[in-house]
Amino acid sequence: MINLQEHAQLGYEILSQIPFCENIALIVKDHHNASSSSLLSRIIYFADEVDVIARKQEFYNPKDLQAKVFAVFKDKLHFKSIMDAFFSSTLMDSFLIMLNNIEEIRYFLPMFVEDRFIVLDNAQLMILAKEIAKNFIDKKSKFTLTHSIDVAHTASSIARNLSFTEKDCELLLTAGYLHDIGKLFVPNAILDFNGKLESINWLVMKSHAYYTFSFLTKLNLDKQIIDIASHHHEYLDGSGYPFGLDKTQLSVFDQIMAVADIYSALRQNRPYRQHMFDHAQAIEILYDLAKKDKIAKFIIDAIPLSIRLWRY
Ligand SMILES: [Fe+2]
Ligand SMILES: [Fe+2]
Ligand SMILES: [Fe+2]
Repeated sequence: MINLQEHAQLGYEILSQIPFCENIALIVKDHHNASSSSLLSRIIYFADEVDVIARKQEFYNPKDLQAKVFAVFKDKLHFKSIMDAFFSSTLMDSFLIMLNNIEEIRYFLPMFVEDRFIVLDNAQLMILAKEIAKNFIDKKSKFTLTHSIDVAHTASSIARNLSFTEKDCELLLTAGYLHDIGKLFVPNAILDFNGKLESINWLVMKSHAYYTFSFLTKLNLDKQIIDIASHHHEYLDGSGYPFGLDKTQLSVFDQIMAVADIYSALRQNRPYRQHMFDHAQAIEILYDLAKKDKIAKFIIDAIPLSIRLWRY
């Protein structure tokens, strides 16, 4: 059971911290308030109710669904214009078919919302990615509270030490913020599991890197950012995941991200081991991996001696 007002307020608080989402935050704040003065909030309220009705039973005729919706809203004058719009746009079977088939809705989506897309440039994307990392990806598990921010800063510090351009460092920051976004698709029971994961659970855990790839691809991001973000568990000898790429296929950016990810994980607590490692111990473990041809030694050498672990 969720408290409707509380979750609307929480949604508002999270979204109001995310750049470019201020207007959306206000709509979300009121989406369970039937007497809201915001028409857009009331539309969400209405759609929420329609969804509940449509899930309670199967409808084979749009008119049956309309009748149920009418019964709920007929006395709510505040919803008159929304109801009129709903009735005129849901007359056809196509509405019911789309409602029951998410792929069909996706196909028509650009037609519905085309004029509402905001295309972000790379600088804006970097700001948005950081807030997504802080508020969603890292917050999902208590073991990763600062992980994405750490990885992003470690990767860009390494690149700076290797004399990469500022633009390249920013690319690594953005990819670092987003590298574990696929974890949003993995249940916490697996992410926080206290022990060695076996068979299907280990595959589900590893799938986060694949979902980083498929999700960022759906968002239409820069291919370079997608590659750097989703190759962070690949190894030079081809034994990593999810694609099993090897050194001939991994860019130096991909390789930096892999080192930054392992370094950051070693410096933090994890459910499956007793404590975090200090800098010297972490470097030793990384050198061991380099000896086994998993990661590149010159990148480990470029990890700054006194790298600052992120604190909010
Ligand atoms: Fe809600
Ligand atoms: Fe990961
Ligand atoms: Fe990671």
